[in-house]
Amino acid sequence: MTTPAIEVRGLRKAFGAQTVIDGLDLTVSCGEVFALLGPNGAGKTTIINILTTLIKPDAGTATVGGFDVASAAMQVRRRISLTGQSAAVDDALSAVENVVMFARLAGLSSSASRRRAKELLESFGLTDAATRRVATFSGGMRRRLDLALSFVVTPEVLFLDEPTTGLDTLSRRDLWDIIRSLAAAGTTVFLTTQYLEEADQLADRIAVLHDGRVAALGTAAELKARVGGDTVELHDEHGGLLREIATDGSVPGLRRALDELDQQGAEGTVNLRRPTLDDVFLAVTASEKAPVLAKENA
Ligand SMILES: Nc1ncnc2c1ncn2[C@@H]1O[C@H](COP(=O)(O)OP(=O)(O)OP(=O)(O)O)[C@@H](O)[C@H]1O
Ligand SMILES: [Mg+2]
Repeated sequence: MTTPAIEVRGLRKAFGAQTVIDGLDLTVSCGEVFALLGPNGAGKTTIINILTTLIKPDAGTATVGGFDVASAAMQVRRRISLTGQSAAVDDALSAVENVVMFARLAGLSSSASRRRAKELLESFGLTDAATRRVATFSGGMRRRLDLALSFVVTPEVLFLDEPTTGLDTLSRRDLWDIIRSLAAAGTTVFLTTQYLEEADQLADRIAVLHDGRVAALGTAAELKARVGGDTVELHDEHGGLLREIATDGSVPGLRRALDELDQQGAEGTVNLRRPTLDDVFLAVTASEKAPVLAKENA
């Protein structure tokens, strides 16, 4: 069996009296895109901080690339890169200077650094702003530059903490494409998100974090099935909800729901609501004692 990219066993972390991570187990295979899904304060950043050696766990073990994050932190750091929730860019420098500096620190030659900076600024839509001081950037531009930095060298494992927060739809899609191409080239991606749609678009598997543990684990389809599929909604002209009919998301299922509305002579605007993180979350936390969705094959 090959070594998993990430292996977490019985991980615990408390801040004062507040236990944030409470016996977390998870295994991420090499080359997998794994999403950790959870609302504000669930402990996503704490887990990322432990896995990237920024903070130490109170108990349990975690390995990245086969190396223990506590006892072999340097080995882990050499194999990863991280984009956190707060930007690491230097305001006084231009975009291109930021990337070049980062590339030089990562050990690239001066000419290789400039080449890499040009490529990355292009991928992240910052070519026109390359020589502007970052202090003049919008929030979204800073975020894109921050993300570009974590792609300077291709790591074994890429950690992205809520990568698309603060990005517009177009930049979000561009980033998804970049992440997909990295994963296709063999990089393991561990990302956190509050959006089921994002996890759905990117992740091979999704873990739902609740009470400091993995409350459900599976593909997006499996998680949605647990919620019970899509809902057909009928709204009046003011947007008020008149009716909702649960469907399984299939064509015949949708047709049955619409036929039902038709037979009742229902009037209004119809739309299809897909399961949101809230729905998944409610379903998972409502059935606390139920077995988890899919057992890990550790
Ligand atoms: N250094 C710290 N000291 C004290 N409490 C902390 C510290 N870091 C995190 N916490 C607490 O731990 C809990 C989890 O925080 P964390 O930042 O991991 O959540 P998150 O899932 O990343 O949330 P968000 O979606 O808002 O980023 C929160 O209640 C937070 O207040
Ligand atoms: Mg966070």
